Amino acid sequence: MIWSFKTRLIHWLIALPVLVNFILEGGETLHEVLGYVAFAVTIIRIVWGFMAKDQARFSAFPFSQIFKARRDYPGHNPQASWVYVCIWFLVGGLGVTGFMMGLDAYWGEEWLEDLHENLSNILLGLVVLHLLGIAFDAWKFRRKTWLGMITGKRE
Ligand code: HEM
Ligand code: HEM
Repeated sequence: MIWSFKTRLIHWLIALPVLVNFILEGGETLHEVLGYVAFAVTIIRIVWGFMAKDQARFSAFPFSQIFKARRDYPGHNPQASWVYVCIWFLVGGLGVTGFMMGLDAYWGEEWLEDLHENLSNILLGLVVLHLLGIAFDAWKFRRKTWLGMITGKRE
């Protein structure tokens, strides 16, 4: 087991609302509710990163090995670890800018809407990179990498 049930549940409670929000126009109640769900679960994930006793713990992420590529990382590889940190920050930024758009003080501010849209485009790019990374890992190591976040095991 690489990814525990809790880690997988957290992954999908962030990923699914984000995916639906890419498709929605923005501004609908559903968009706002899903955005806040993704935001709240991201905060839970960050707390989990200090509490978990397995590979989900931040201290187990091999951040400093970014320029190396070794075969079997027990958890995330270094490149993926950085992508995930960026994803969490972007979801955080989308929650904050989304909330600000609803405040009287920022109502109709175009720069804020543009910022929200730009953050969501960068996030979409990283999600594509994430999926390409999983496909590459599966090809390079001949294993079912994607199953890691579904069944918890990738081989
Ligand atoms: C909006 C869509 C998605 C987002 C934002 C996203 C984000 C993330 C994040 C933040 C992590 C780190 C997990 C953690 O340490 O808690 C992760 C890991 C992972 N995700 Fe996703 N994900 C998305 C879609 C998917 C999809 C569609 C799959 C396909 C099954 C997938 C499979 C995985 C796998 C296998 C890992 C672990 C990779 C590894 O072994 O290092 N993700 N994802
Ligand atoms: C995971 C988080 C989120 C993602 C991926 C996301 C993504 C998007 C996207 C793609 C758009 C359309 C941009 C455009 O084409 O104009 C949009 C617009 C919008 N979003 Fe979000 N969003 C998120 C969270 C939130 C939250 C938490 C709120 C508010 C509570 C929010 C409020 C809005 C509003 C009001 C618009 C319309 C802005 C406008 O009039 O141009 N979003 N969002």
